[in-house]
Amino acid sequence: MSNIQDKVVIITGASSGIGEATAKELASKGAKLVLAARREERLKKLQEEIQSNGGKAIYKVTDVTSDEQMEELAELALKEFGKIDVMINNAGLMPLSPVFEKKIKEWDTMIDVNIKGVLYGIAAVLPFMRESKEGHIINISSVAGHLIGPAGSVYSGTKFAVRAITEGLRKEEAVNNIRTTIISPGAVATELPEKISGEELKSGIDEFYKVAIPAESIARAIAYAIEEPSDVAINEMIIRPTIQEL
Ligand SMILES: NC(=O)c1ccc[n+]([C@@H]2O[C@H](COP(=O)([O-])OP(=O)(O)OC[C@H]3O[C@@H](n4cnc5c(N)ncnc54)[C@H](OP(=O)(O)O)[C@@H]3O)[C@@H](O)[C@H]2O)c1
Repeated sequence: MSNIQDKVVIITGASSGIGEATAKELASKGAKLVLAARREERLKKLQEEIQSNGGKAIYKVTDVTSDEQMEELAELALKEFGKIDVMINNAGLMPLSPVFEKKIKEWDTMIDVNIKGVLYGIAAVLPFMRESKEGHIINISSVAGHLIGPAGSVYSGTKFAVRAITEGLRKEEAVNNIRTTIISPGAVATELPEKISGEELKSGIDEFYKVAIPAESIARAIAYAIEEPSDVAINEMIIRPTIQEL
């Protein structure tokens, strides 16, 4: 039997891309899923698809920038399934721009979703996991959490933060038998580049993304980290397209 069978997994940003692919992968391995994002129609469609393939999934419209909504999401998982085994803090966005352009709204959104959203997700599940002396928190960083390029200052800042927070959490919660995993994807074919508002920059990124690998590649890596026995923590993975140099 897979070590994913019957695990209760919360996924943020489940309405598209990596979150959606991960939901399908884990559902096919018997996980009980709690899907979260803001676009309800997408979540509903995904839930129906998972259920029609014999999987188990519920969803809740959730904005990760709301601590309250993240608490409610964790409560729903406990109410419906009685436990939380895995929290995947995946929601994120990447409106790249040079600092000089001062796109403050975009900076604020990235900081709120990519950093605070991850923190709220951790905080929402940690009390239950500490009490259970078991659990797994998976946070999605990026190759941009290891390297910085022009126009990527703020996005990289948020993704470096995800790695710092996750590594700190690992040290704090090892004693409570809570596993942490940092996933750092390279170019993955999703809706992520669509939020880039500068036209020239967007076309450069579209060119870079021509080598992008499917979201399922990241989903399989996440499944691997979950599948390992509970005394084994896959703490960090970088997954790039083979021909991506950066
Ligand atoms: N694609 C890549 O090349 C790549 C590379 C490295 C890292 N990543 C990281 O992978 C993660 C997933 O991105 P993706 O590539 O799958 O892009 P995506 O298809 O654009 O998915 C982003 C997800 O985040 C959700 N989201 C955004 N703001 C939210 C909010 N305030 N509250 C709740 N959910 C929110 C979106 O759902 P709603 O709009 O419905 O809320 C969507 O489901 C991100 O953290 C991204 O930084 C991606």
